[in-house]
Parts: sequence; structure tokens; C-alpha cells
Amino acid sequence: MKTIEQLIAAGVAGKRVFVRADLNVPLDGTTITDDGRIRAVLPTIAELAEAGARVIVASHLGRPKGAPDPAFSLAPAAARLGELLGREVAFATDTVGESAAATVAALADGEVAVIENLRFNPGETSKDDAERGAFADRLAGLADLYVGDGFGAVHRKHASVYDLPARLPHAAGRLIATEVGVLRKLTDDVRRPYAVVLGGAKVSDKLAVIDHLLERADRILIGGGMAFTFLKAQGHDVGGSLLQEDQIPAVQEYLARAEAKGVEFVLPVDVRVAAAFPDLRTKAPSGSEVVAADAIPAGLMGLDIGPESGKLFASKLADAATVFWNGPMGVFEHPDYAGGTRAVAQALIDSPGFTVVGGGDSAAAVRILGFDENAFGHISTGGGASLEYLEGKTLPGLAALED
Ligand code: 3PG
Repeated sequence: MKTIEQLIAAGVAGKRVFVRADLNVPLDGTTITDDGRIRAVLPTIAELAEAGARVIVASHLGRPKGAPDPAFSLAPAAARLGELLGREVAFATDTVGESAAATVAALADGEVAVIENLRFNPGETSKDDAERGAFADRLAGLADLYVGDGFGAVHRKHASVYDLPARLPHAAGRLIATEVGVLRKLTDDVRRPYAVVLGGAKVSDKLAVIDHLLERADRILIGGGMAFTFLKAQGHDVGGSLLQEDQIPAVQEYLARAEAKGVEFVLPVDVRVAAAFPDLRTKAPSGSEVVAADAIPAGLMGLDIGPESGKLFASKLADAATVFWNGPMGVFEHPDYAGGTRAVAQALIDSPGFTVVGGGDSAAAVRILGFDENAFGHISTGGGASLEYLEGKTLPGLAALED
């Protein structure tokens, strides 16, 4: 994989460089609630601009339906990028239309522009190679060189991620190089004990990675909404908690395999429950209580792991040499249910091992809950991407950057 140093050494001054970033940040209206992904790509953009490139930054945001939709505009992300870079950032209101062409044509050496959400064009995510290719051709017309640095999207076979680098001289940006370096430490040469904490809502999203980790990890700790399918698979009542009944046979098979292989599965021993899902807007007190995980009363739903589970999980991480964590332990956006996620974040901080927070919601959670990002070994910008990497899959956006 060619690096950005090599690209810069070959000369980028005056060249139009297309940087595929992942500026898919959480928004409340037009307010960015976590700008971690924008900060993560700054080194690449700043370095290219300082080397005299005309930098075109492109990304997706959310999942619009292949047509312009103001709710998914990248304008707030472009404004924040300008603030963080401390320089003017131009904004094109389309992807490959008149605005993009004029904005790019107006760039001087060392200037930066953002083009509108790539998913406003149906060609970006199309499953049809020709349709994606046609969009990639138009994007290629905007630039001379390509830098892939949207790690959060490298698992997507999308036009700007997969097809465009085949059309332009390309290199990997700083963020992708860092992320891949860290993930290699979780796959190629793991220091043991290796503990993995998985949370989030759906067990179906995590089956493939659990399958893979059963061959590699020493301990797998399960929290979040997915824990209830595990508890049910062990024969416990889970009340009105989130449950994926159809996944129970797969979970039972994993539990049996883990036992046979000596991989320790750790499930919550207590759970914070309430009668209804809390109001995340007002964050009003929700009347929660803590119950044993194997006796959740009918009519109550589990919304976080309980304090004893937090202590148990921390004890399982205390001597780990490597820790990977993906997925919140509960509905951390509400103060009543942030305790489990907070406990796991603190346990990673206290662990003497190499700790990685894997992407998406868990990365946002540690920042929203006010933890110091530097206290972790690495906070990934890619949730789905890091999971798919750990599953051993070939990621289209990384394969496309190979020479
Ligand atoms: C993410 O948030 O994981 C990435 O930005 C990819 O987004 P997607 O799941 O909508 O493709």
C-alpha cells in the first residue's frame, strides 16, 4: 500500500487530491455531537494542504436514499473541519455537478474544499458495477490523485471507496495507516490474555466476529442489548428486554464451542431495568432498578448492565494484555443507563494492557461520557469496519489501495 509520504515525495503541489474521508458524525439537527471522526482525518488534510495540494474532501453522512436530502448535508461537518483546520474550507452543494466543478476549479494551491454527501448520488452505493463505475468516472474527473482515509467506510464496496482509487494514482492516508497498524496487533501478534468486550443492540451484528474470536480470544464479555439473547439462550427469563429469538440456536452453539475450547464467556450477573424505554431528549429520571440477570421480571426491560456486572467485567479486564471493546453496555445516552458503559471504559483505562475502543457508538460514548481519549491505547473511527477486519474479511476500501 502506497503511503501519503510517498505521494507527497512524488509532488502534490498544484495537484487536485481527492481525500475520501469518513465525516459521518452524529448530528442533533445541525449540531455535531461528536467530532472525533473529523479530528481523526485532520493530519492527512493538513499535510496535503501544506504540501501545496488542492484538497477535495469527500464523505458520506447517514443513509440518504440516493438523492439530495438537507437532513444529511455535510455542510455542518465542512464548517467544523474549517474551524479545526483553522483555515477557510469551501463547500460544494453537490457531488459531481456545477457547484463541485466550480468549487474545485476555484481552489488555489494549499486550499481545501468539501463536496456534498456522496450518497446524494445513487451511483455511490449502487450494487450495479456499471452504475457505480459511472459515478466513479465523474468523481475521477474532479481530481488528479486519490487518498483513501475514510477508515469507517472501508468495508463498503462503494464508488468513492472501491471504484475511484482504481481510476487515479492512489495512496492510504495517515488515519487508515494507523487503524490498520492497530488492528494488526489484534490479529497477527496478539499479547495474551486477550479479552474482548462486545455490546450494542443486536447479536446478529456480532455473530461473525464472535465466530472468529472463538478461535483467538481468551475471554469474551457480553453486555448491551445483545446480552439478553445470551441470557435467554441459557434458559433465563428476560422480561420485556430486547431479544432476538431466531439467534438463540446460534448463541447456544457458540456457548458450547467456547466451553469446549476453554474460551471464557462472561455474561452480566445483574441488570438495570425499567418499565419503559427512557426519554433520551429530556433525560428525565426513568424509575430504574437493579435486578438479578437471571430473574428479570415480566414487564420490565433491561437497559444497562448492573453495578455488580460492571465490577465483574472490570475484574476480567484487569490482567488482560490486550483488550478490544465494541458496543455500549446500555442506553448510555440516558444518565440512568450510562453506568455499565462508564464502568467498562474505566476498566480499559485501568488495564495495563493494550486497549482498543472499536468505533462507532463505543467511541462516541467514551467522548460523550467525558473520558480522556488519550487514556486508551487507540480509539478506532470504524465500528463496522474494525469488526469486519477482525472477522478476517477482505475490506474493499483497503484492497483498492493496494498497488
Ligand atoms: C459508520 O458509521 O460505521 C460508517 O460511517 C459507515 O456508515 P454506513 O454503515 O452507513 O455505511
